[in-house]
Amino acid sequence: MITFKYENALIPKGKILSTAKKLIPEIKKLISYECVNLADDDKILRITEAAIAMKKRLNPQLIVVVGIGGSNLGTRAVQEALLGKQWNLNNTPKIMYADTVDPDALQCIIEEMQNTLRQGKQLILDVVSKSGTTTETIANFEVLLNVLKRHRKDAENYVVATTDKESKLWKLAVKNNFSLLEIPKNVGGRYSIFTPVGLFPLGMLGIDLKELLKGAAAMKEDCLDAKGPAATGASILYLQKRNIYDNFLFSTDLESLGKWYRQLLAESTGKTKCLTPTVSIGSTDLHSMAQLYLGGPQDKLTNFVITHFNRTIKVPYYPEYNSLVENLQKKELNHIMHAIVQGTKTAYKKGKRPYTETHLDVKNARAIGAYMQLKMMETILLAKLLKVNPFDQPAVEEYKKETRRLLKKGIY
Ligand code: PA5
Repeated sequence: MITFKYENALIPKGKILSTAKKLIPEIKKLISYECVNLADDDKILRITEAAIAMKKRLNPQLIVVVGIGGSNLGTRAVQEALLGKQWNLNNTPKIMYADTVDPDALQCIIEEMQNTLRQGKQLILDVVSKSGTTTETIANFEVLLNVLKRHRKDAENYVVATTDKESKLWKLAVKNNFSLLEIPKNVGGRYSIFTPVGLFPLGMLGIDLKELLKGAAAMKEDCLDAKGPAATGASILYLQKRNIYDNFLFSTDLESLGKWYRQLLAESTGKTKCLTPTVSIGSTDLHSMAQLYLGGPQDKLTNFVITHFNRTIKVPYYPEYNSLVENLQKKELNHIMHAIVQGTKTAYKKGKRPYTETHLDVKNARAIGAYMQLKMMETILLAKLLKVNPFDQPAVEEYKKETRRLLKKGIY
């Protein structure tokens, strides 16, 4: 389902494998982390499925996820990878994400909510916050709850709060009769995709949660081997001498998966000399970044993420167009894309630009679940090699504290 190749990482294979071998004690410890075992946690799935069944009875036409960072990036990543970025154009329930406090962006959600409610249709407001006190999330939630309350006397029936047990948000939800879903205490935001944080909204959209979790569970087993993709991947990231780690995903619908991973790596390892993760989309960004990637400083390691496409589209046969670009007529777009991928890899190789490859043979729930599990385990192992805590984010807490201080002063 997923193949990881690293022969062009420009690091001797022996060195990668011996570093991975040194990780054996850490690999053994991995299964003691709750976030690594979530895919096998039947209780979480049962509770989430019960909540999904209950809320589906309301026949909602719109799901609004209010959350930021680890509280929405994973959901968006899976939704777009499996349903497409343009899901809302032709499908229901629609899904919208309120993350930052951008009034222009929020207005679109407000209008969609108003349209839905005025037509007598229902929606779900899913507020997600582990701490229950993130400024952006709570501000947006208050605004959107207000919209809901103006249209529905029984607003509480349409609200789901996903948070830590006994957080301030939890207590408020109990008081207001909102439905509640618990985030396990020991699972941090960026590792929480397989908790109700991701499972509830994704299940509401009809995504096959069991398949997602099956993929993750199978990958967990593969990653408990020092020769597996997590330990070798972590060793490469540890051994390489570059500053930037570009995830170059050759699928438009995988952009948010790239952004989910960007947060995972940045927050988990950004505490020492580490890689700066970036996201590029193929082939789009070849037309904006390739000059820099191939001609600029030798400061990047690239991971090409190459996937199977679910649809087949053929270029028609118009002979006169052959004069514009030869050899395109009657070709499938995915074959053209793979020619571009191959061309890009060759150019990287010629320019001695190091790269690894992650291949997804299929783009389905099982493969995406497996990919996310792999990246979470790889990141924990990398953090161990770097001797940093993969689960905290002290600098993020710092900005949150400062923002709250300024708001308290009343100058904004
Ligand atoms: O991964 C993390 O811990 C952070 O990115 C958080 O998810 C983000 O800051 C949102 O926090 P919370 O879920 O507490 O609202």
